[in-house]
Amino acid sequence: MILSTRSLTKQFGSFTAVDDVDLDVAEGTIHSIIGPNGAGKTTLFRLLTGVHAPTAGRVTLEGAEIAGRKPHSIARKGLVQSFQLTSVFPRLSVLESVQAAIIAPTRRPLDLVTRYHRSVEGEARALLARVGLESVAGSQANSLSHGDQRALDIALALATKPKLLLLDEPTAGMSPAETQKTTQLVSELNRTTGLTILFSEHDMDVVWGISHRVSVLHQGAVIAEGSVAEVQSNPEVMTVYLGEGEPLEKLPA
Ligand SMILES: Nc1ncnc2c1ncn2[C@@H]1O[C@H](COP(=O)(O)OP(=O)(O)OP(=O)(O)O)[C@@H](O)[C@H]1O
Ligand SMILES: [Mg+2]
Repeated sequence: MILSTRSLTKQFGSFTAVDDVDLDVAEGTIHSIIGPNGAGKTTLFRLLTGVHAPTAGRVTLEGAEIAGRKPHSIARKGLVQSFQLTSVFPRLSVLESVQAAIIAPTRRPLDLVTRYHRSVEGEARALLARVGLESVAGSQANSLSHGDQRALDIALALATKPKLLLLDEPTAGMSPAETQKTTQLVSELNRTTGLTILFSEHDMDVVWGISHRVSVLHQGAVIAEGSVAEVQSNPEVMTVYLGEGEPLEKLPA
């Protein structure tokens, strides 16, 4: 397992947001975390990335304990979440944003005219090709469509060479066409590079379409885990979604 948690728990006061979670993410897989609003998905991700310290439990990345470490230390070990970052470099072009993300970990000043910066142009263009943004390399980052901005966010995360990429609801707010493009991108990244991807998602078509494993969170606890077919045929999962009044098209097949 590239990532495991054992008895991972987060309490806010007397409220338990993440409850005794045992999670195993196998290397090279696309593993999705689903569950109704408030199930604890984002809190779980924040425990993994070090934004929150757990109340109890363990997190291991490639066998090394990371629970309670600082976010930058966890990111350096290869567990990286893609955030909406395009606003961080509003005046840079798409290409320059990726160049900046590639050299940022070396802690050199972000001087765009240095030869050092130009030396990563090839690497940056290759990353843009991987996420399908070659044709907009010269555009200003904040002028891109919503879907393309999220693809750029993924490129910025990839620039740090993660071993495991976390995506918290990557298709949120996207049109059906953008959702399909993003789903395809995630699937292709995994297939062509073997990158392990852990993501949370509300769109069940996306989940069933690309996940190797699915974990279902409900009130902070994992109530089901398995292949798509196993989770779809789990009666408890059906009950949770029916109980939340999810629209029928979001129900498991
Ligand atoms: N910092 C915090 N302090 C107190 N309660 C919190 C905090 N963060 C989250 N919670 C609570 O923990 C629960 C889980 O929230 P979380 O955001 O992890 O759910 P989620 O599964 O990501 O939901 P959504 O699908 O809406 O994104 C919610 O009841 C939320 O109100
Ligand atoms: Mg959330």
